[in-house]
Amino acid sequence: MSSPAIGILGTGAYSPAKVLTNHELARMVETTDEWIVSRTGIRERRIAGKTETTSSMAAAAARAALADAGVTPEQVDLIILATLTPDQPMPATACLVQHLLGVPPRAACFDLNAACSGFLYALDTAWAMLASGRYRHALVIGAEKLSTIVDWTDRSTCVLFGDGAGAAVLGPTRGTAQILGARLYAEGAHAGLLCVPRGPKPFIQMKGREVFKNAVREMEDAVRDILEQHGLAASQIACVIPHQANLRIIEALGKYLGLPPERFAVSLDRHGNTSAASIPLALDEARRSGRVRAGDLTLLVAFGAGLTYGSALVRW
Ligand code: ACO
Repeated sequence: MSSPAIGILGTGAYSPAKVLTNHELARMVETTDEWIVSRTGIRERRIAGKTETTSSMAAAAARAALADAGVTPEQVDLIILATLTPDQPMPATACLVQHLLGVPPRAACFDLNAACSGFLYALDTAWAMLASGRYRHALVIGAEKLSTIVDWTDRSTCVLFGDGAGAAVLGPTRGTAQILGARLYAEGAHAGLLCVPRGPKPFIQMKGREVFKNAVREMEDAVRDILEQHGLAASQIACVIPHQANLRIIEALGKYLGLPPERFAVSLDRHGNTSAASIPLALDEARRSGRVRAGDLTLLVAFGAGLTYGSALVRW
């Protein structure tokens, strides 16, 4: 029996109401709006309130994705939540989301940590589980409350990150929004470039320049691999949904692939880097704004701590 075709049946997103602008940050640490915009493209980010948790944001994004897909919580039998900021070390935040949504007990629910590549890792895992025929409808969610692991006195990192959640419902498709392929990678030798150490200061530490260089090379490799595997040219991609870390990284990727800036979905100017939430947030925005249309070939590409990276191809 051949594997069923699996597609993205719907998407959703959630962003906290509180906006933190570059100008406000400039009153907290020694920085300027001009420096942040010219080095990163980020203008503002959203910050979760006290009662907003990774699970509450994930559930809100998931509800929107279920409504978009026309799938009910009772039909979901798999939840994979990509996050590096779970509500607690245990239980898995995916189980809390299951309870918030009213997804029945026969669903498998677990968290996955591949940092900023988390959504693509979760997408590929869910795709494989659905393609096995043993699960039918999956919620694939990326959600982060990064504001809890940001050192708000470190200007070299605190200007980069934000909070939020994005989600996709995966299930059987007759050809629309079909996932065509995915590739995942990790280079543990570079684990020290980007980490949250245990100890008295459990905050994001990053060797920015080295991460930048690796990010461009890894994303280019991930894109070239998947295009080659599918016999495609970069010019056939209608829209790239890249991880939203830094506009200069996205521009460099475009240059190396020979793709103009308008082929790339960008949401980092308003959200900053939301790690595992960044791709599903940008994807939901791109779909709802008409940026991604039926029949379009879309490429998702990410990199993150690990260093992890990966890509996926979807025909809408
Ligand atoms: N405001 C003003 N000056 C600053 C700031 C700031 N917010 N931050 C750093 N600087 C200063 C530095 O102190 C340095 O000053 P010096 O020359 O006097 O020493 C100068 O600006 C240049 O610093 P660099 O770090 O070399 O600046 P760079 O151009 O590399 O930009 C940045 C820094 C934006 C962090 C860039 O390296 C980058 O985007 N790297 C990739 C980050 C990234 O993508 N992270 C993804 C994380 S993914 C995940 O898995 C969580």
